[in-house]
Amino acid sequence: MLRNLIHISCMSETVAVALIGAERLEMPEGPLRELLTQIYADECGHANFGWRLVGELIAQDPSVIPGLNDYLLLAFAHLEQHELAHLPEGARANGPELGLCDGRDARALFYAAVQDVIVPGLDSHGLSASWAWENRALALENQ
Ligand SMILES: [Fe+2]
Repeated sequence: MLRNLIHISCMSETVAVALIGAERLEMPEGPLRELLTQIYADECGHANFGWRLVGELIAQDPSVIPGLNDYLLLAFAHLEQHELAHLPEGARANGPELGLCDGRDARALFYAAVQDVIVPGLDSHGLSASWAWENRALALENQ
C-alpha cells in the first residue's frame, strides 16, 4: 500500500500539481481555466493526502524503509518514462489556450518537481530517494 501511495500521490500527483499549475497560469481567463482550476485543486488534495499519510505510516513503522528503498529505483525509472512519453519535446499549436505548456518547459518542470520537491520530500521521511533518482537507470538494466 505504501508503494502505491508513494508512486501515485507523492510522485505522479505531485508532478500533476506542478504541470497543471503551470498550464493554469498560462491559460487565458474563461470556462476552461475555471475547469482547470478545479482539477488543479483536486490534484493538490491527492498529492497532499499521500504526503501526509506516507509520513505518518513511515514514522509509525520505520522497518518498512528498506523495502521502500528497493522499490524507489523502479518507481523513479517508470515515472520518468511515463512522463516523458506524454510530454512532447516541442511547442504545441494553440497550447496555452488549451491548457498545454510548451513541451520543453513541461519537461524542465517535471525534472524540477522531481529534484526539488519529490526527492527531498521522500528523503525527509528517511528514504534513500536521492540515491534512487540518481541510479534509476539500474532498474531498467535488470528488466
Ligand atoms: Fe489526481
